[in-house]
Amino acid sequence: MATMPRGRIVGTGSAAPKKILSNADLEEIVDTNDEWIVRRSGIQERRISSKDRNETTTDLATQASRNALDMAGISPDKLDMIVAGTVTPDRQFPSAACMVQESLDAGNAAAFDVSAGCSGFLYALSMAHNAIQCGTCKTALVMGVERLSTILNWEDRGTCVLLGDGAGAVVLTAEKGDNGILSTHLRSDGSLGNLLYSSEGKSSLPEILDCVEQKSFYLEMEGNRLFKRAINCLTSIAREALAHNAMCEADIDNMIPHQANLRIIQATAKNLKISMDKVYTNIHRYGNTSSASIPLAMDEANRGGHLETGANILLVSFGAGLTWGASLLKWTM
Ligand code: UT7
Repeated sequence: MATMPRGRIVGTGSAAPKKILSNADLEEIVDTNDEWIVRRSGIQERRISSKDRNETTTDLATQASRNALDMAGISPDKLDMIVAGTVTPDRQFPSAACMVQESLDAGNAAAFDVSAGCSGFLYALSMAHNAIQCGTCKTALVMGVERLSTILNWEDRGTCVLLGDGAGAVVLTAEKGDNGILSTHLRSDGSLGNLLYSSEGKSSLPEILDCVEQKSFYLEMEGNRLFKRAINCLTSIAREALAHNAMCEADIDNMIPHQANLRIIQATAKNLKISMDKVYTNIHRYGNTSSASIPLAMDEANRGGHLETGANILLVSFGAGLTWGASLLKWTM
């Protein structure tokens, strides 16, 4: 039987809003302090987007995508599929992916969004990789993009200090051989959806006026209850990915985790016996950008020369849904 192709990343890109909001700036907005934020989360600053600066979800995703396509040397009309992981599209519909399809003029691509909270990028990557394996797609653009600042309650110090805006994208091409995406692994537990949610505004849109009055469109999070679960889920799904590929923890050259909290990342790395110098983090500069965090970190790691040819790279994420996931890649570019 002919071996199935796999998706290989041939270009990465990212985009971040210009405005930097530091912990000191936040001290002016809510009852918080730099020491608490850094000690509990590792975050020093985050980016905040503005539509007045052309930093909508579509703008950020388009810029990240163009950067990835340029690196890949692939023109947008070659794309068969565009998948965006996001919970903050510019509109309920059309999808963010369709809006990016239009702005890139990617006339041959199917386009759709995936809503999986902070795991949105890994879910999107998995959809595109599976389509490549089935032979229904040869070239795909996969994005993670968020403007979480638009759904934050700036009076809630428990959430507004943690999140930020940004976008990351990768271009995948179908390839036979041993390089590229080795596997993807996805999980969910909807019974714990109430630990992290934004309540109103979708099919409840007719009640939008009540919603505005009750401020119920804001992101709500029980961070403390998520914390331990995040570490357990990230550890177990990483082990599943390793076992699936007959690898052990020592085989991992780089880990690029979802950037929710530095302590979660450190605890997961410790469980997996992966030294922190193999783990790429940029949470101190961007905060938690949800589905954008992995592709944004991957693009920085790639452009910074941190990812070597032949490296085994572990991606892991955890977020609203609850959802969590992992992917193992053999890197070449
Ligand atoms: O992206 C994927 C999903 N998200 C996550 O996985 C996030 C997981 N959770 C976390 O990252 C952490 O739980 C947080 C960073 C959200 C919070 O850290 P924590 O160590 O779990 O703190 P806590 O929520 O237990 O709060 C401890 C104290 C509380 O005060 P009391 O009740 O002990 O007096 C809070 O009121 O810290 C207080 N607090 C703050 N103080 C200063 C909460 N937020 C702040 C703040 N500044 N911004």
